Amino acid sequence: MRTLQLRAMLLGFDAVTRTRAWQGDPLARVVSAKPGTDPYPLYEQARRQGPLSRSKLGLHVTASHRVGDAILRDPRFGVDTRAALMDMKVLLRDAEGRRPIHPVDDSFIALDPPRHTRLRRAVAPWFTPRAMRELTPTVEKVVTEFLDEFDGRAEAELVHEFAARIPIRIICEMFGIAAVDYPRFTRWGAILGPTLDGVRSVAELRRVRETLVDVEAFFADLVDRRRRHPGDDLVSGVIEAHAGATGWAREDLLATVELLMLAGYETTLNLIGNAALVLLTDDRARARLLADPDIAPNLVEEVLRWDSSVQYTVRAATEPATVEGVDLAQGAMVVVLLGGANRDPEVFPDPATLDPDRPNARDHLSFSSGIHYCVGAGLARLEAATAVRLLFRRFPDLRLSGPVRRLPSRNIRGAIRLPVRLRG
Ligand code: HEM
Repeated sequence: MRTLQLRAMLLGFDAVTRTRAWQGDPLARVVSAKPGTDPYPLYEQARRQGPLSRSKLGLHVTASHRVGDAILRDPRFGVDTRAALMDMKVLLRDAEGRRPIHPVDDSFIALDPPRHTRLRRAVAPWFTPRAMRELTPTVEKVVTEFLDEFDGRAEAELVHEFAARIPIRIICEMFGIAAVDYPRFTRWGAILGPTLDGVRSVAELRRVRETLVDVEAFFADLVDRRRRHPGDDLVSGVIEAHAGATGWAREDLLATVELLMLAGYETTLNLIGNAALVLLTDDRARARLLADPDIAPNLVEEVLRWDSSVQYTVRAATEPATVEGVDLAQGAMVVVLLGGANRDPEVFPDPATLDPDRPNARDHLSFSSGIHYCVGAGLARLEAATAVRLLFRRFPDLRLSGPVRRLPSRNIRGAIRLPVRLRG
C-alpha cells in the first residue's frame, strides 16, 4: 500500500472510532481508549448494553462470560475476521504487493478447520501435561539462574531482567537455539506485541514490516539448518510433521514456528509481570504466597482472571446464527471481551477483588475457549507459577522502588517497567 493511502486509512479509522466513542459506543471506547489505561469500567459499560450488543462500529460485542464462552466454542463461528478492525495482511503489502509472513494472521490461530486442526496437531504434543512435567526442572533451573544474578544487588528491574527472559529462554531451549539471540527476540517482541491491537502510524507499520522481514529470515535459516541436521527439538518436530503432511506450504511451517515464538513471549512475560505487580502492591496476596507457596498456581489463575495479558479476540459467523435473540448474518463479527468476561459477576462473585484462593479462578477465558484454546497455556502456567514462587522465596521483602510503566497497548495488558528494591 502506498504511504498516502495508508496514512488516509489509519486516520480514517482513528476518526471513526473516536467519533463513535464520543457518542458513547462502548466498543469504540475500548478500541480508542488511551493504550495502557484501565479498561474495566469500559467493559462494564459494554455489559450494561446486554449480553450481546451491536456496536456503531458495525461489530457486535460481549462482556458476558456465558455468551463469550459459547461463541468461542460454537462451530458456526470462525476466525476469518480480517476486516474486523484492521487487516494487517493488506496493510503490510509493499507497492509490488509483496509482504512478509505474519506470525498471527498467517498461522493456524487465524485458520478454521480442517486446516487449523491439522496444523495445530503438529505442535500440540509438545505442550501436553506430561511434556510440561518433564520441562519443570528446566524452568526451575532457568528461573533460579536469573535470580542468582540478583544476588548481592540492591535493586533490579523485573520486566527486562526477569519476566521477559524466562519465556524467551524456555522457548529457545525447546527450539534448541542459543540464548544469545535473546536481545533480538526482545526487540522483535517489543515491536510486534503492541501491534496486536493495530498500528497507529505509517512509521510504526514500516517498523513492523522490517521486523517481520528479519523474523522470517531468521526462522527460514533455522528451518533450513534443522532440515539438514534434525534434532529432538520442537522445530525439527514441526518440520517432520510438515514433511509427512499434504497440502502444507513452506509459509505454514514458518508461520507455525514464528507463532510459537511470538505468541508465547509477549503474553507470558506480561503474565509474570502482572503477577509480580500484584504481589508487590497487594499485601494480602503476598502474605498468602509467603505463608503457602503451593498457592502459586491458583494465584496465577487469579491474576490471569483479574488482569489478563490478552484482553479480547474476534470471531465471525460462518453462517447465519441467532445468539441471545440477536440475529447475526453470515460474516457478522463479534468482539469477545475476554477481560470483561473474566469480571462477569454471574460467574465470579466480587469480580474486581483479587482473591488468591478463589475456587473457580481457573474458569477465566484468558486462554480463550473452544478449538483455539491456547496451545501454550500449560507452559505459561508453569513459567509464571515457578517465577513468582521462586522470586518471593528468594526475596520475601521485595518492594517497588520507583514508578511502574504500563505497556502502551489495549489488547495486551502488562508492565514495561517494574523497578524493585530486592531486600528490605
Ligand atoms: C499468559 C500467557 C498466554 C496467554 C494469555 C495466551 C492467550 C492466548 C489466547 C487468548 C489464544 C486464543 C486466541 C483466540 O481464541 O482467538 C491463544 C492461542 C494460542 N497460543 Fe497462547 N497465550 C499465552 C501463552 C502462550 C504460550 C507460552 C504459547 C506457546 C509457546 C502460546 C501459543 C499459542 C498458540 C500456538 C495459539 C493458537 C491456538 C490455536 O489457534 O489453536 N501461547 N493464546
